[in-house]
Amino acid sequence: MLSSSSIEGSIMNVVVITSSHHRAGTSALLADRFCAGAAEAGHSVRRFDMAFEKVGFCLACDVCGCGERPCVQHDAMEALYPAVEAADLIAFVTPIYYYSYSGRLKCVIDRFYAIDSILEGSDKSGVLLATCADTTSESLVNCSASYESLLSYMGWKDAGQVLASGCSKRSDAENSEYPQAAYELGASI
Ligand SMILES: Cc1cc2nc3c(=O)[nH]c(=O)nc-3n(C[C@H](O)[C@H](O)[C@H](O)COP(=O)(O)O)c2cc1C
Repeated sequence: MLSSSSIEGSIMNVVVITSSHHRAGTSALLADRFCAGAAEAGHSVRRFDMAFEKVGFCLACDVCGCGERPCVQHDAMEALYPAVEAADLIAFVTPIYYYSYSGRLKCVIDRFYAIDSILEGSDKSGVLLATCADTTSESLVNCSASYESLLSYMGWKDAGQVLASGCSKRSDAENSEYPQAAYELGASI
């Protein structure tokens, strides 16, 4: 399933957040191609492979006040926060785990709570790249709906989604139309 809508503008700060432990997996391939397209279009692209970083769960301690004070946790989010704040577009990249985002991506998104008041209402766009083994879209619908709800809450625009079914392993993805779709989406933003 593919969808996209172009964004008007010139050079953008693009942040790509991946969340699989498979360095050469299916979602990493889509991230590679999306980054290549965005870079070739002249955008500034920063990629954060969060599965290989230390990221704690949101503790819901509310010390942050949703953006008034720093998060109490000192981990890889300290590098991601300023990048996300400065981003014009954030690409969320995930394998599907049990009909939704990977737990790692959900963990990262939950930690947005500490900068929520900065993000909410900011002028940003999102992209979703998701891969799954099922050959139908059944496993992808919850992830897409959750992403769309996040964007709606934040007031961000959806710049496009590549929802890749039938991709159990790298070779499945390589032999599909999805890497090219991810490239074209990156080039179109
Ligand atoms: C814990 C776990 C749960 C999964 N759940 C689903 C699922 O609900 N639906 C599905 O189609 N594939 C599921 N898969 C398969 C992965 O989504 C698929 O292999 C994907 O290509 C992995 O992406 P990656 O190579 O980027 O890690 C699951 C895999 C794992 C490890």
